[in-house]
Amino acid sequence: MITCLITGANRGIGLELARHYAGSGATVLATARHPETATELAKLAAAHPTLQILALDVTDPVSCERLAASLKGRAIDRLIANAGVIGPRGGLADPTNTAKLWADVLAVNVTGVFLTVRSLADNVTAAKGGRIAIISSRMGSSTAAAGSSYLYRASKAAAANLGANFATELKPKGVAVGVYHPGWVKTDMGGAGADIAPAVSAAGLAQRIEHLSLTTTGVFEDYAGAPIAY
Ligand SMILES: NC(=O)c1ccc[n+]([C@@H]2O[C@H](COP(=O)([O-])OP(=O)(O)OC[C@H]3O[C@@H](n4cnc5c(N)ncnc54)[C@H](OP(=O)(O)O)[C@@H]3O)[C@@H](O)[C@H]2O)c1
Repeated sequence: MITCLITGANRGIGLELARHYAGSGATVLATARHPETATELAKLAAAHPTLQILALDVTDPVSCERLAASLKGRAIDRLIANAGVIGPRGGLADPTNTAKLWADVLAVNVTGVFLTVRSLADNVTAAKGGRIAIISSRMGSSTAAAGSSYLYRASKAAAANLGANFATELKPKGVAVGVYHPGWVKTDMGGAGADIAPAVSAAGLAQRIEHLSLTTTGVFEDYAGAPIAY
């Protein structure tokens, strides 16, 4: 059975990914910034003994190093960099587009993805056939530039770019990397008016990740397999 590590697994799409993989019998390393308050994950862990809750703040290099040290030598078949934040949704005149918020959003959505993958790349390589999924967004595609949500769009474009570069660097090591748009999903981030339930997104993403190979590495697509331009 495979081992799957998911960042930001305490709520939203990450929680549903944890539920999906645990339900399929995988060993799940479900990470959360604050495991002590991750009540939904705790319930999931009670029902699935193969699910372990681990602490990870993706913006904190010490937290990343601590996690990597605790998993040293352990193979991770699927690494899903899911943790993310949205930031202000307005245009140029939105006063909440502050330099501080730029730094905060980039820290999670870009630096956080880099630190996560750097910390655990050896574990994925050790899995033989290991795969890395970067949860970006269609909003990060430059062909979908709507002139709003600047921080989020730029950060998700950068996350997709990281995925493409990881794909190039890790291909010789046998690791495939995919970049994914999870759909517009009913979560705290997506809102109640979004298109699809988290479980639908998670099932679709898991299916796409199973399709990922060294031939398709570097792909950018949505949860249903529709291609997205970088
Ligand atoms: N929902 C959508 O429609 C949609 C569409 C496109 C892309 N996405 C992407 O899908 C991913 C999941 O989104 P979601 O809708 O599930 O969002 P969500 O419900 O807001 O959940 C975000 C998750 O990220 C975690 N997180 C935030 N900052 C973190 C940090 N510094 N370290 C570790 N974890 C951190 C949160 O943990 P805390 O609970 O501790 O804050 C939470 O578990 C994100 O990357 C998002 O950009 C979502």
